[in-house]
Amino acid sequence: MPRHAAARRYLMCRPQFFTVAYAINPWMNPAKPVDVPLAVAQWEVLRDRYRAFGHTVEELDPHPSLPDMVFAANGATVVDGRVLGARFAHPERQAEAAAHAAWFRAHGFGEPVEPLHVNEGEGDFAVTRNWLLAGRGFRTSPLAHAQAQEVLGRPVIGLDLVDPRYYHLDTALAVLDDRSDEIMYYPDAFSPGSRAVLRRLFPDALIAGEQDAAVLGLNAVSDGARVFLPQAAQGLFGPLRERGFEPVGVDLGELLKGGGSVKCCTQELRG
Ligand code: ARG
Repeated sequence: MPRHAAARRYLMCRPQFFTVAYAINPWMNPAKPVDVPLAVAQWEVLRDRYRAFGHTVEELDPHPSLPDMVFAANGATVVDGRVLGARFAHPERQAEAAAHAAWFRAHGFGEPVEPLHVNEGEGDFAVTRNWLLAGRGFRTSPLAHAQAQEVLGRPVIGLDLVDPRYYHLDTALAVLDDRSDEIMYYPDAFSPGSRAVLRRLFPDALIAGEQDAAVLGLNAVSDGARVFLPQAAQGLFGPLRERGFEPVGVDLGELLKGGGSVKCCTQELRG
């Protein structure tokens, strides 16, 4: 099946002040040192890959007291040019929301919609052609799902996350083609009922195994033809190629210490 890439616009934040100063997910261990120049170099490879494939990457200025700001996907959700602001679950990250809102104001998006409940942006919201897939259980409040549906204009499918290692939806599920509702996911990260929902809506989904999930292989970004994903998720490369996608492996090993990879570093600016 031939695949067609669409030019995308992404928002990223350089990990200049990245560190693991606190632990708000099981991947984070403040006792383990972080190599910041290596984190920056790995992040630049991802940014430059996007640009080499013709995508636009905007950069949000990092802040010295916000070490998780590199995970730009969490700062807002943008669909058809409408911006739903984020509200973080943990106090350590709360100030990131205002930095994102200021960026949107300064870049012609207007005033982001004020979040009424905790929602961690694209960490828990995934946009397919027909649906807004919405994670809950660890971070985003189920109450935020209703607001997301109202603001972003797609029917929300609530999905219950049950494994603390996969605390955001984007650690367990990735959209492969947003023009045809094609996804990949790791079933064990979801409750039995949510698994049944996913099977019903996406019977042809690519199902990931434990090894690929455990290196955050599902934390991937697709432009419709290429899938940017952690290099270590080798088990996904063959199945992606069989479906006509070109896997583009990237090593973000330093950022994995914060519990994030490719998708976490990438917020998509849609429309
Ligand atoms: N340390 C960050 C946190 O726990 C990682 C966020 C990863 N971002 C994501 N979109 N999954 O909040």
